[in-house]
Amino acid sequence: MSGAPADHAAALAALQQEAEARIASAPSGEALQQLRTEYLGRKSGRLTSILKVLPSLGADQRKGLGQQANETKALLERLFDEAAARLSGARPAEVAADLTMPARAIWRGAKHPVTLAVERVTAIFRELGFTRFVGPEVETEWHNFFALNFPKDHPALDLHDTLYVGDGVLLRTHTSPLQIRVMQAYKPPIRVLVPGMCYRKDAFDASHAPAFYQIEGLAVDEGITFVDLKATLALFARRFFGEKTKVRFRPSYFPFTEPSGEMDVECQICRGKGCATCKQTGWAEMLGCGMVHPAVFENVGLDPERYTGWAFGMGPGRMAQQLFGVAQFRDLYDADVRLAAQFVDAE
Ligand code: PHE
Repeated sequence: MSGAPADHAAALAALQQEAEARIASAPSGEALQQLRTEYLGRKSGRLTSILKVLPSLGADQRKGLGQQANETKALLERLFDEAAARLSGARPAEVAADLTMPARAIWRGAKHPVTLAVERVTAIFRELGFTRFVGPEVETEWHNFFALNFPKDHPALDLHDTLYVGDGVLLRTHTSPLQIRVMQAYKPPIRVLVPGMCYRKDAFDASHAPAFYQIEGLAVDEGITFVDLKATLALFARRFFGEKTKVRFRPSYFPFTEPSGEMDVECQICRGKGCATCKQTGWAEMLGCGMVHPAVFENVGLDPERYTGWAFGMGPGRMAQQLFGVAQFRDLYDADVRLAAQFVDAE
């Protein structure tokens, strides 16, 4: 390997020029490190290879080429160091997009089944001439109980059921206090529907939750009868669940209605055969209802001789459970988005 000295000098100059250009355009610290090894590597770097010819040269030439090689080496080392500093502050090169990757699924929001049930109930009663109304979740004891004809020693007043937030102030245990607020604010004829959250110191079980939805309905006018109540609620049930739906009325008791009843729907989960959801009865409780008690009319200043009316309070949680076949009531309140996600197309 002993070419003419001038060739070695020229090769060295070309090498330096090439290295300068490549250092200047190195895209990353990693690429720069590879270049440094390529040119200055101890074993097989290209500059090192040129230096290997030195021993075969005459003293003068060896000195000249040696000096040139040292200058080149010093220059390249400086350029490598400068480029490394510049690149370490720079962002890593963009990773090219992989256009073959599967698209990320788009998460479609869905309404909760209880919301869907509330909307369905509201829409049906809107067609029947009922206006939606909302009221406070923090109520006075008077609106929640006493104006509704609860005796002072009624067990529902007991601290075990009611969540008090202050003296005579509580979280409403039902939406019925809105009967009072509506009758105080508006003159008959009244037809209102009032959805909202209610609270009771209940433990979670197969059909109860400590915070739950109710929908109150109230119709007040002259000449309203129990027949209107039954016919309207039966019509509603068939619109809500389907034309062939079986319903039944049972007598019941509420302090603010007389007579009082409850309406059940044939369990939609087992079609009346009996299952865990309907506690083997074949029927699911939908609502409590009755004719507005004369004492309630008196408490809001309406003449019970002139006006009659009916009211109901239904549980849209149970209705959603029946409508959509949610076997576990608790699932409705577990805030697991996978439940609602099943109802993306349910509207
Ligand atoms: N407020 C009653 C309840 O919670 C339901 C009801 C409303 C009954 C209206 C009769 C009339 O259980």
